[in-house]
Amino acid sequence: MTEYVSVAVDDRAESRSGVIKLHGPEAFAAMRAAGQLAATILDALVPNVVPGITTGEIDDIVHRMTVAAGGVPATLGYRGFTKSCCTSINHVVCHGIPGDKALKNGDIVNIDVTPMLDGWHGDTSRMFLVGDVPLKARKLVDVTYECLMLGLDQARPGNRLGDIANAIQVHAEKQRYGVVRDFCGHGVGRLFHDTPEVIHAGRPGTGPELRPGMIFTVEPMINAGKSDCKLLDDGWTAVTRDRSLSAQFEHSIGITETGCEIFTTSPAGFDRPPY
Ligand code: MF3
Ligand code: CO
Ligand code: CO
Repeated sequence: MTEYVSVAVDDRAESRSGVIKLHGPEAFAAMRAAGQLAATILDALVPNVVPGITTGEIDDIVHRMTVAAGGVPATLGYRGFTKSCCTSINHVVCHGIPGDKALKNGDIVNIDVTPMLDGWHGDTSRMFLVGDVPLKARKLVDVTYECLMLGLDQARPGNRLGDIANAIQVHAEKQRYGVVRDFCGHGVGRLFHDTPEVIHAGRPGTGPELRPGMIFTVEPMINAGKSDCKLLDDGWTAVTRDRSLSAQFEHSIGITETGCEIFTTSPAGFDRPPY
């Protein structure tokens, strides 16, 4: 049985595994602010994500903007991660570490930011197209965006996490793409990664029921080939085992009485590429 607990806005950021927090209006307001900062940072990257820029230079922009807005990059120092965002290029599934690598024409790259603002985490990622991107890669990016939004269409009270997962899986597998199982979405709020685990492939009508006040991410990773991943020796970078391309989009959302509020919508309208 899933347990739920209503939390006050100033409750300590604790995780009790299996217990899903139900947040109130102040938490939604705080998540809106953190989410909009996260989305604004991704918006500002659009003119910068061009052939020749290094992922380290992108990280510097994210770091500067986060701090200038009074936030803290939640990934900085998180379990030994030393950068302010993740940059995952081509066959990198997630958690790519920014560094000296320059983007080149035709790359696709996911940039994942999580500014913590007033103690609340706005977690979002988008794909960026670098220069002229081949049709096959653009198609993967498009379908992955559709997977996220079809998943969010299922995010309403009474539905279950399995309904979100199934909508994503069905759409991806229609194109014979693989849905990554090794990484999931997650509860988010004053904790970066909280209960529940939000799967991206599963059966309808299964898993925890969605209730107003739940706050979590949906962040499907879709591979052009098989779903299997492997971890590189740096301990972070996850790549597709078959070296196929991989794409991901992520929003942070809150369940409302009638559906969901997306906290991380782009103020500039740059939710879906091309931007
Ligand atoms: N932002 C990622 C997520 O969506 C987590 C990155 S953790 C890091 O959950 F340490 F790799 F940065
Ligand atoms: Co996340
Ligand atoms: Co993220």
